[in-house]
Amino acid sequence: MSLAAGPGRAGTISDQLPDELRLVVDKHVSYIQSLDTRRDELEYHLTEHLRISGIYWGLTALHLLHHPSALPREGIVAFVLSCLHPNDGFGAAPGHDAHMLYTVSAVQILAMTDGFAELEDSVPNGKRKVAEYIAGLQQPNGTFAGDDWGETDTRFLYGALNALSLLNMLPSQRPNEPPLIDIKAATDHVKSCLNHDGGFGVSPGAESHAGQIFTCLGALSITGELDSFLGESGKDRLGAWLSERQLDDSGGFNGRPMKLVDVCYSWWVGSSLAMIGKLDWIDRERLKGFILRCQDAEEGGMADRPGDMVDVFHTCFGVAGLSLLGCEGVGAVDAA
Ligand code: FPP
Ligand code: ZN
Repeated sequence: MSLAAGPGRAGTISDQLPDELRLVVDKHVSYIQSLDTRRDELEYHLTEHLRISGIYWGLTALHLLHHPSALPREGIVAFVLSCLHPNDGFGAAPGHDAHMLYTVSAVQILAMTDGFAELEDSVPNGKRKVAEYIAGLQQPNGTFAGDDWGETDTRFLYGALNALSLLNMLPSQRPNEPPLIDIKAATDHVKSCLNHDGGFGVSPGAESHAGQIFTCLGALSITGELDSFLGESGKDRLGAWLSERQLDDSGGFNGRPMKLVDVCYSWWVGSSLAMIGKLDWIDRERLKGFILRCQDAEEGGMADRPGDMVDVFHTCFGVAGLSLLGCEGVGAVDAA
């Protein structure tokens, strides 16, 4: 089913990439810069519900491409602060309801732009207030809701731990203060999402999915329990499931069996393999070739699959995939 090298077989074919498969760094930078200047286009308005996350994806790609200042810092920080809701969470755009995912994006952007001082200037004790908004979404069973309406998902749990860690508000970072969240209950919930096939789902008993595996491994990494919980046999089982996501025909990953290949899984699957030390179980060069074929080599940006329309989400996670694999023009990410 798969060209993946599989457990124990470190397989990389050092194909020489043809010239058209070079990373077009400058075009990706221009594409990301152009996104905010397209306010007269329908797509700009259709994506308003994702605005703050779009900035996070664009900024992350720019950092990885060694152009961290290609978007104006002051404007970004001012926009993020304008998305702050009276309940101390962030919405996707000014006036939108707050949600965990946009709050995580806001915190990530402020961390990347060194913008926490501006948050504190604009809202006294702002970091703590945002942390309290996040903590307030923890449920009695340890997991987190996305907003006050209560839907839960391991994405929200991982996002909460990620943002609290960036805010320096995790219980382990503040041992002398009352904990804002129940970290044991959160960790126990993640553990309860482990399936017999070695993967993790969105909730206990739900089908394994590479995106959810990323969030569960990320959460366990933050709480420091990844190695002790999975052990070598758990990592082997999960590594086999993840490496089977690499497809014979394209070299790209899908997110679960029988589904379409998609460049964003280069990150969700690739970083998951890296977190368990199994990135060599896949054919890195074939994955790299797939990611580069997802580029629009003329206009910049990456699409989910070669030939499709580009968007900033897939540009971010395609570039992030390249950062794991090593690619000229892309900074390395240490997934350890
Ligand atoms: C599509 O699922 C979903 C994705 C491609 C994103 C997956 C990534 C995550 C769940 C992690 C997100 C993390 C954070 C912190 C927000 P689908 O079931 O529609 O697609 P499929 O057909 O590929 O299975
Ligand atoms: Zn995708």
